[in-house]
Amino acid sequence: MNFLYKNLLRPLMFSLDAETAHNVGLESLRIGLSSPVARRLARKFFEVPEFPPIELFGLKFKNPLGMAAGFDKNAVAFNQLSALGFSFVETGTVTPQPQTGNPRPRMFRIHDDEAIINRLGFNNDGVTRLVERVSVEKKECVLGINIGKNRDVGIEDAPDDYLKCFHAVKDIADYVVVNVSSPNTPGLRNLQAIKELERIMDPLLKENSPDGGVPILLKLAPDLVSEEFEALADFSVSKGLDGLVLTNTTVTRPREDHRYDEQGGLSGRPLADLSDKAISSIFRRTGDKLPIIGVGGVFSGQDLMRKIRLGASLVQVYTGFVYGGPGFPSAILREFRELLERSGTSEISELTGLDG
Ligand code: FNR
Repeated sequence: MNFLYKNLLRPLMFSLDAETAHNVGLESLRIGLSSPVARRLARKFFEVPEFPPIELFGLKFKNPLGMAAGFDKNAVAFNQLSALGFSFVETGTVTPQPQTGNPRPRMFRIHDDEAIINRLGFNNDGVTRLVERVSVEKKECVLGINIGKNRDVGIEDAPDDYLKCFHAVKDIADYVVVNVSSPNTPGLRNLQAIKELERIMDPLLKENSPDGGVPILLKLAPDLVSEEFEALADFSVSKGLDGLVLTNTTVTRPREDHRYDEQGGLSGRPLADLSDKAISSIFRRTGDKLPIIGVGGVFSGQDLMRKIRLGASLVQVYTGFVYGGPGFPSAILREFRELLERSGTSEISELTGLDG
């Protein structure tokens, strides 16, 4: 399947503009695997290996691999993605009102480096449509919902937007991620300052039921200095947040090169190191007090293993899937399974943070 994708399907897809290719791919997946029978066949065909379940935030994950936010922004194909092997899908980022995002073109592949630059700007159908869609589906995987704010809402009023989204999704999400790290909504990343974050998180935590409610995680940018990471780690522990998603895309560039001239967030291989550093620096600070979902530049079972050994309890991918195709999740899970067997333990949690 991987051979077929890389030699036949991918050249076809990559002859299209990156966003058009994304839409065609997502729509094909949505329609192709819309029936439970088709999904059952897909699970057989892709030979997704079995793992001892991972228990985290009171949820059970069949394996450590998830689809990162932004791929299925509107929750149209989360069960379909799970049939390819993902044990969890993070839908969104969703905002209170629908919005179209930035002008196109706004998504660019840097093929030789297996990277993507995007400046989509939270194009999405709005939280009401998303809730309608999720409510009529029987979930076949863990579903996270990633929430943000509308572009035309000022930083002062940002807490209201997060609260609106949280209120709408808290009963249908398995976990909620507060996204304050996208580089494509002006001023959004300033919300990573502790004072601003407190204004957003306090009302959410208050709204969440006192006897647990839904797990709430925070997604951070890779472009913070270690003092900022440490302050945010301490803040998250002291507020009782359930975990961190590390990391979003970077606004930095690996080198001066005209292929990296486009503005926006960079993902894929060039992000791997930055994301790894964020994971290990937070893990060193908080240990097992604050579970980490690691994301950024995962292309193989080895990359997955590395992120776990640095401190991640679960791992997500986006760009690796674009370059690897539908057989990618099962392929890297099979490789990871072999590495796990060689490591002498079947408990993934025993490996978390070993190299942190
Ligand atoms: C993203 N990402 C993202 N993250 C998020 O929290 N909300 C979003 O809406 C989006 N949208 C989005 C669109 C596109 C086109 C890309 C490539 C990425 C970031 C994504 O979830 C992930 O954090 C990074 O892409 C790093 O992982 P990879 O791509 O290197 O595996």
